[in-house]
Amino acid sequence: MDKKLKGKIAIITGGSAGIGFAAAQLFLEKGAAVAICGSRKERVDAAISGLSAFGPVKGFVVDISKNELCKSMVIDVVKEYGRVDILINNAGITSDAQFYKMTDEQFERVINVNLKGTYYMSKAVVPIMMEQRYGKIVHCSSVSAYNGNFGQTNYAATKAGIMGMTRVMAKELGKYGINVNAIAPGSILTDMYQAVPEEIKQKKLATIPLRRYGDPREAAQLLAFLASDEASYITAQTITIDGGFN
Ligand SMILES: NC(=O)c1ccc[n+]([C@@H]2O[C@H](COP(=O)([O-])OP(=O)(O)OC[C@H]3O[C@@H](n4cnc5c(N)ncnc54)[C@H](OP(=O)(O)O)[C@@H]3O)[C@@H](O)[C@H]2O)c1
Repeated sequence: MDKKLKGKIAIITGGSAGIGFAAAQLFLEKGAAVAICGSRKERVDAAISGLSAFGPVKGFVVDISKNELCKSMVIDVVKEYGRVDILINNAGITSDAQFYKMTDEQFERVINVNLKGTYYMSKAVVPIMMEQRYGKIVHCSSVSAYNGNFGQTNYAATKAGIMGMTRVMAKELGKYGINVNAIAPGSILTDMYQAVPEEIKQKKLATIPLRRYGDPREAAQLLAFLASDEASYITAQTITIDGGFN
């Protein structure tokens, strides 16, 4: 395994499952020290016991929709490691319903976690990266923002918002040596995707040119590339990883 992230300090939100967990393992394998968070303690604890064999990793129980918790996680990471080189804003949720059936609570919860959480974590990390004159931020958008997946008014709004944030943040922060990009996954086999009804999954498969779902490790590889110095001249981009679906 190459050590392209050797010595880097990375925060990965939602590192307790799915794409975030795969990214945490890969970043450790590539030589980074990693701090993960999730909102459920038992999942964070289980992830840490699975990840510890790969390198230095710390777990935080943080609901990213709570600004104060995001700030205090970042303060703790800086106390421990002295800097933050990489922020992977991966944590996200769905709460699907057709528009006319969607409750305000469903809409607001998804906005609070996916969009505000991405904002709060970035807000806590950016001053540190500005001072360092170095940073890599990678957000998680979705092809749902392009395609408007049925039942995902709330989710697609957050993921389109994240694409906009990516472009603005990249323009404002480039002069401080900070790259800001996003990935837009299609159908990656994680708990989030397992929640999609079987019938819809089967129909979806036929529309994916590669005729298979993505593995979390494949999404993690893209995150690792964008977080590395190999991607040093890439910023303001949202890169799709969807087997050709979009
Ligand atoms: N899988 C796909 O097909 C797909 C497609 C497009 C985009 N994406 C995006 O990729 C990202 C990762 O998705 P995934 O499929 O890996 O999801 P997942 O398997 O459901 O995992 C989500 C992770 O986020 C954490 N999380 C959820 N709510 C949180 C909160 N309020 N605060 C902190 N952590 C929270 C979860 O931990 P807890 O449950 O313990 O909080 C878990 O670690 C998401 O942003 C998602 O929207 C996924």
